[in-house]
Amino acid sequence: MGDLLKVAMPKGRIYKQAAKLLRSAGLPVPEEIDDSRKLIIPVPEMNMEFIMAKPVDVPTYVEYGVADIGIVGKDVLMEENRNVYELLDLGIARCRMSVIGLPDWRPALHPRVATKYPNVASQFFREKGQQVEVIKLNGSIELAPLIGLADRIVDMVETGQTLRENGLVEQEVLFEITSRLIANRVSYRMKNEPIQRLCDLLQDTVTQRA
Ligand code: PRP
Repeated sequence: MGDLLKVAMPKGRIYKQAAKLLRSAGLPVPEEIDDSRKLIIPVPEMNMEFIMAKPVDVPTYVEYGVADIGIVGKDVLMEENRNVYELLDLGIARCRMSVIGLPDWRPALHPRVATKYPNVASQFFREKGQQVEVIKLNGSIELAPLIGLADRIVDMVETGQTLRENGLVEQEVLFEITSRLIANRVSYRMKNEPIQRLCDLLQDTVTQRA
């Protein structure tokens, strides 16, 4: 029996696609995880343990080594800037990070940008040489320009439905987002064989899907 692999899985919108990808790579992720509220799910036949984490916390668990590997969106990786290896682009949960505003937006004297991603937004505007006040929100970001908290937002766009339904428009794309496989730096050395095997399996599946 080799080393136990602890895998941090994102709960919520990425989970279904991540589980589907693992299953198509031949890993029998138990169906019971899909609707369970259990947070630690041992799968002895795979010599794995799934840790069900809030997506934004996945890089933290992996950096500290309480999970050996994890699945997480590029948006979270860019924002959290954790000391982890990014092993593979899984090509799932595809969306983009954009600057968004009302159609009649004009540069404001004291521009304010609301976002769930304050580091990403600050860096973006700093690199453009634009001074903006960044206001951190935790959800329903699109509200901010509608009710006058900020004149623009930096947020994820997937189908564009949220923008359409709220009369907002994309001004500029910051970067494209997909989910990534990440690894703890020490685990990657100490458990290289099972991690590399999983990585190769997933790489083949991702390539076949493309
Ligand atoms: C995300 C994001 C956008 C929306 C984009 O919010 O912040 O609001 O999804 O998706 P769309 O382009 O397909 O409409 P989420 O649903 O995660 O909820 P939140 O508002 O609580 O962040």
